[in-house]
Amino acid sequence: MDAYSTSLLLLTLIHLLLRSSAREFLSPGSFLSVEDSSDRLHSPDGTFSCGFNNISQNAFVFSIWFSNTAEKTVVWSANHLHPVYSWGSQVMLERDGRMVVKDYDGQPVWENGVNTSSNAEQAQLLDTGNLIVKGQGDIILWQSFDSPTDTLLPNQNITVGTKLESSNRLLVPGHYSFHFDDELLLTLFDDQKGVSFIYWPNPFINIWRKQRHSFNTTTIGVLDSWGFFLGSDNLTIKAADWGLEVMRRLTLDYDGNLRLYSLDKPNGRWSVTWMAFPQTCFVRGLCGMNGICVYTPRPACACAPGHEIIDPSDRSKGCMPKFNLSCGGHGQEMNFLKLPSTDFLGYDRKIELVSLHACKQICLSDCTCKGFSYWQGEGSCYPKSSLVGGVANPQLPGSIYLKLPKTLQVSKSSIPHSQPSGPRYGPNCSAKNKYVTADFLDKRKSSQSGSQYSYFYGFLSAIFCAEVILVALGCWFILIREHRQLTGVWPAEVGYEMITNHFRRYT
Ligand SMILES: *[C@@H]1O[C@H](CO)[C@@H](O)[C@H](O)[C@H]1NC(C)=O
Ligand SMILES: *[C@@H]1O[C@H](CO)[C@@H](O)[C@H](O)[C@H]1NC(C)=O
Ligand SMILES: *[C@@H]1O[C@H](CO)[C@@H](O)[C@H](O)[C@H]1NC(C)=O
Ligand SMILES: *[C@@H]1O[C@H](CO)[C@@H](O)[C@H](O)[C@H]1NC(C)=O
Ligand SMILES: *[C@@H]1O[C@H](CO)[C@@H](O)[C@H](O)[C@H]1NC(C)=O
Ligand SMILES: *[C@@H]1O[C@H](CO)[C@@H](O)[C@H](O)[C@H]1NC(C)=O
Ligand SMILES: *[C@@H]1O[C@H](CO)[C@@H](O)[C@H](O)[C@H]1NC(C)=O
Repeated sequence: MDAYSTSLLLLTLIHLLLRSSAREFLSPGSFLSVEDSSDRLHSPDGTFSCGFNNISQNAFVFSIWFSNTAEKTVVWSANHLHPVYSWGSQVMLERDGRMVVKDYDGQPVWENGVNTSSNAEQAQLLDTGNLIVKGQGDIILWQSFDSPTDTLLPNQNITVGTKLESSNRLLVPGHYSFHFDDELLLTLFDDQKGVSFIYWPNPFINIWRKQRHSFNTTTIGVLDSWGFFLGSDNLTIKAADWGLEVMRRLTLDYDGNLRLYSLDKPNGRWSVTWMAFPQTCFVRGLCGMNGICVYTPRPACACAPGHEIIDPSDRSKGCMPKFNLSCGGHGQEMNFLKLPSTDFLGYDRKIELVSLHACKQICLSDCTCKGFSYWQGEGSCYPKSSLVGGVANPQLPGSIYLKLPKTLQVSKSSIPHSQPSGPRYGPNCSAKNKYVTADFLDKRKSSQSGSQYSYFYGFLSAIFCAEVILVALGCWFILIREHRQLTGVWPAEVGYEMITNHFRRYT
């Protein structure tokens, strides 16, 4: 054997070795291991990778992500509720088509639920980002497209049996979801304490203004390769950069906003090309009861004056009053504190053509009234029995008059203001803000927590800062743009109604 053929043989060997670590197929009986970070499946064109993804130093989740983005963008994950350890864990394709993720101690933490009598041929990651397990005769025994997490990829169907659920970058689930409702409309839900509220599309406008069709029994929605999403309920989403050859994803972000993203290939960054709420503060329940969402200009939570934070680590729990409202005429004297350009977008009734004085009297005589919104020009009075969905925004037409005991000292500086046209704030997470920044990341529900998760909790706070900045920059851009377009053209009654509705309770 001459030197030439020896080196050729060596090269071939090396090539084979390399191929075996970054593979295109997983055959029955073989596995991907957590220790070797190059032990992955990749799609034939290299767009997607699939394998173990570390969400902290020691915690790994079996996931699919875009191979070529500046920051790792996970589009699907299997065991996000049960991350596995950084050593000894593996995902195995069994001969019967089951795919099993096992922790370091051999404990299965996730299974794909295949149960057939036939044998599996292979697992394979397609160019679409779909991980499939193929049986004999090329039948698909299982596909990841059928169990989305928070992202829909082009050509991935959302049907009545599937839903997107918000989660942060550590894959901790939030409380927002996107799926078909019982009228078979694609809808955003806020799921809290066993109750679901619809917050998009606005549940208080009728079906023809939503431009949707209810009760179409073919429930399907799909984003095509052009950046055009069409649902069987006529939900229509069109990317701003509509066209072929762009990589896109439709993601329900942790802040409850549904956004369509396009990838800028040269720098690997995502830009938003459509979103359900141009202003994140209008997403339901971001700041909880008695909380007010303000733009600083990045969205942040403040408490209504006279209230204090319940849980600084989770702003969606809201604020509690620092006083007791006595009821039944024990002579407690009340004052109203004006919060300009602020509103609580829920739980109110409407009384038309009354004076501010009359509106105050209505609220004073009503024990359950916590304050009211008053729209000066219209003379509309909206007494509030509950202060939820608070937003401070210069575009809001009305002001809130908060009912507070006369004895309570409230400083003028505690009145929340938005500063959308103020100086542009750089990402400065060390700065002490006047308001506590919203912790839009929802903590894992306590029932699911356990000692095994402590190892990645520590990373929540570090990543949190980065995430808030991400949203802030998006919001800033949109506010600036809207400000330019909308100065003084708030769509009168229609717009107000759209946002001051009661949120519909939905079980
Ligand atoms: C994942 O591992 C890489 C390399 O070991 C490390 O640089 C990175 O910080 C880890 N990611 C997290 C979220 O800990
Ligand atoms: C698999 O399916 C068979 C019948 O199709 C059923 O009897 C069996 O209980 C199933 N096994 C599991 C683990 O679901
Ligand atoms: C999506 O739905 C269409 C129509 O029902 C179907 O033909 C297609 O195979 C589905 N795609 C996937 C990936 O399941
Ligand atoms: C379906 O949605 C599109 C875009 O939102 C709208 O132009 C069209 O009128 C709607 N069709 C019906 C019948 O509502
Ligand atoms: C129901 O949805 C299907 C699939 O998107 C669509 O072809 C059909 O036109 C819809 N029917 C009605 C009445 O809108
Ligand atoms: C409100 O009333 C409760 C019990 O009636 C009492 O424990 C609490 O201290 C009161 N709070 C304030 C701020 O007065
Ligand atoms: C960030 O905030 C800290 C504390 O307020 C301040 O000292 C620092 O100069 C700020 N950094 C930037 C880049 O603005």
